[in-house]
Amino acid sequence: MRVGMLTGGGDCPGLNAVIRAAVRKGIFHHGDEFVGFMEGWRGVLEDKTMPLTIDSVSGILQLGGTILRTSRTNVRKKPGGIEQCMATIEKNKLDALITIGGDDTQGVANALIEKGVKCVGVPKTIDNDLSGTDVCFGFDTAVSIATEAVDRLHSTAEAHSRVIVCEVMGRDAGWIAVYTGVAGGADAILVPEKPIDMDEVINVIKGRRARGKDFSIIVVAEGAKMPASDKKATHGGTVDEFGHERLLGIGQFVADEIERRTGFETRAVNLGHTQRGGTPTAYDRMLATRYGSAAIDLVHAGKFGRLVVLRGTEISDIALADAIAKNRTVDLKLLDLAKGLQP
Ligand code: F6P
Repeated sequence: MRVGMLTGGGDCPGLNAVIRAAVRKGIFHHGDEFVGFMEGWRGVLEDKTMPLTIDSVSGILQLGGTILRTSRTNVRKKPGGIEQCMATIEKNKLDALITIGGDDTQGVANALIEKGVKCVGVPKTIDNDLSGTDVCFGFDTAVSIATEAVDRLHSTAEAHSRVIVCEVMGRDAGWIAVYTGVAGGADAILVPEKPIDMDEVINVIKGRRARGKDFSIIVVAEGAKMPASDKKATHGGTVDEFGHERLLGIGQFVADEIERRTGFETRAVNLGHTQRGGTPTAYDRMLATRYGSAAIDLVHAGKFGRLVVLRGTEISDIALADAIAKNRTVDLKLLDLAKGLQP
């Protein structure tokens, strides 16, 4: 078969491992040929391709980023965009398309599926909030990077008797914040799923000081909402093609509030895109390899319109349309776990 492949949306560690696995399994075991589309859906719109061969996927397993590049191109917003994509798919004589991406990328795939295009999806989001799958690759790497950062912040916070607020990724769900906060022993964890209660944060910090610990670490997800409002902190209204505002500043806001209300010296650190860069952990390479291999097998099983997923420890597949219907938010029991360790 001739199979197209693209990576869309924000990058995350493990994308190259998915590409490599699908291409190697496809060529060695199914006799496939691959066409890689560059920069996500933009590559399909503009017919920008690169060959995907055993040689071109050699040596990429451990590399971050994506050899196919990526973009946040919303085909559905371009007049005639869907038809343009269908024309490119036909011109390249593709039998199937593997779309590696989150809900935005898979939303475009779903629009093409409805027109009869044969797509198979692979779930990707560093935020780990795609429903239908228990884990997205890249999440483990992001949590490892953020936890190491929190470990490092502990020693400098202690040396200066400061509060340090660490802002991590998580637009609509606080998975990175909760895992990092628990693994890093943060004193408070703030997530988009629960409005920030500043009184509670201040009490935790003051309580620690009263017990003789004169430093604190707070982990906050970028999408956590401002106290007493339903607003997220943003970077002045910049919006991408899918209508997402650029989030920025909740960490600094929380730090300023803490310093104002306690008088304790406070700093904010935003880990930002460091969480998405660099080499994937072994766990993410393993998961990404399983996803890539399963995706090409689904193509050969003729199971189109499906998304490969991890359920428990087993790889399985679900209707792609179901995965994009809603976000998978944090189980608040995990926050109770963290709170249960406080007095
Ligand atoms: O969607 C994943 C994500 O990493 C979010 O956590 C974050 O808000 C956003 O992407 C950042 O997007 P960009 O890479 O376009 O700055």
